[in-house]
Amino acid sequence: MSEIYSEIIGTGSYLPEKIVTNEDLSKVVDTSDEWIFTRTGIKERRVADDGEYTSDLSARAISDALKNANVSVDDVDLLIVATITPDLVFPATACIVQKKLGLKNAVVFDIQAACSGFVYGLTVADAMIKSGQYKTAVVVGAETLSRITDWTDRTTCVLFGDGAGAAVLRATSKKTGILSYSIKSDGNYVDILKATGGPSMTKTSGNIYMEGKEVFKLAVARMPEISKEVVAKAGYTMADVDCFIPHQANVRIIDAALKNLDIPEEKVVKSIQSHGNISSACIPLALNIATKNGQLKKGDKVLLTAMGAGFTWGSVFLEF
Ligand code: ACO
Repeated sequence: MSEIYSEIIGTGSYLPEKIVTNEDLSKVVDTSDEWIFTRTGIKERRVADDGEYTSDLSARAISDALKNANVSVDDVDLLIVATITPDLVFPATACIVQKKLGLKNAVVFDIQAACSGFVYGLTVADAMIKSGQYKTAVVVGAETLSRITDWTDRTTCVLFGDGAGAAVLRATSKKTGILSYSIKSDGNYVDILKATGGPSMTKTSGNIYMEGKEVFKLAVARMPEISKEVVAKAGYTMADVDCFIPHQANVRIIDAALKNLDIPEEKVVKSIQSHGNISSACIPLALNIATKNGQLKKGDKVLLTAMGAGFTWGSVFLEF
């Protein structure tokens, strides 16, 4: 029997309409556009409307991706929603999305791996497609981080935003699509980046708490390491990478990671300026942006690398 591969056949995204600029934030907390931009590379972020939920953002990004992939909702047999800001504790946001989009032939579930959620989701979808039981999968990363942001804390509120990005994967017998991946976790770091509440511990959802410098150091060490690992695992070298899409947490993390990777600046996608850190949504959103602006072309070798709370981290190397 020939091996099964999973190829991305369409991407999509959605950003809420409301824009909050650095200038806007400087009126609410003691900060400035200059501080935020030089420390993070962020200029503005989006904030969802009161009645707009993670499931709505997901549904919009998925609809966009399905349209771009020319795939009907009836063809989708697997949906994975990666999020740390689910609509409710239960049922899964994926079930709410399933209802909203009428994905009647799909098995659906959520995964929670913070900023690495989309990368984790791709590896799970790939494994399920490789099992031969699923043919058309959707992986979406979607967040309403504005709901767990303390808007009086200048050390965190300037960093995060809301949005969603999605990819449609299809089974193929051709050797293309996902060529290799690696995902890792280390629970020793649970306390340096977390929500201050949860249903079991505090009966609330809490806000984002982060020890910025520690997170920075870990991201800069682990992201290049795992990136090199997956490219080598697929039998390629860094020179073969046409497009590098790192998690968009901070432009300084991306630049520091690049110093340890032999990837020229022009091959790197940086979209953080216009949306901030949207956790699991960053990589699929950047993927869609790069597809639309021509930075990423069919046949390109793409490296996706994420790092997030947990700690979780992971890389996927694929032919687009
Ligand atoms: N505006 C103005 N001043 C600020 C702000 C702000 N928004 N935030 C903090 N400051 C002040 C601090 O209070 C401090 O003042 P002090 O020297 O008087 O005490 C000073 O600026 C320097 O603060 P640091 O925390 O040392 O600033 P640093 O250069 O480390 O930058 C940042 C902070 C941007 C959070 C950085 O540590 C970082 O990027 N960390 C990575 C974390 C990250 O990106 N996480 C995203 C989630 S994790 C993930 O996605 C992988």
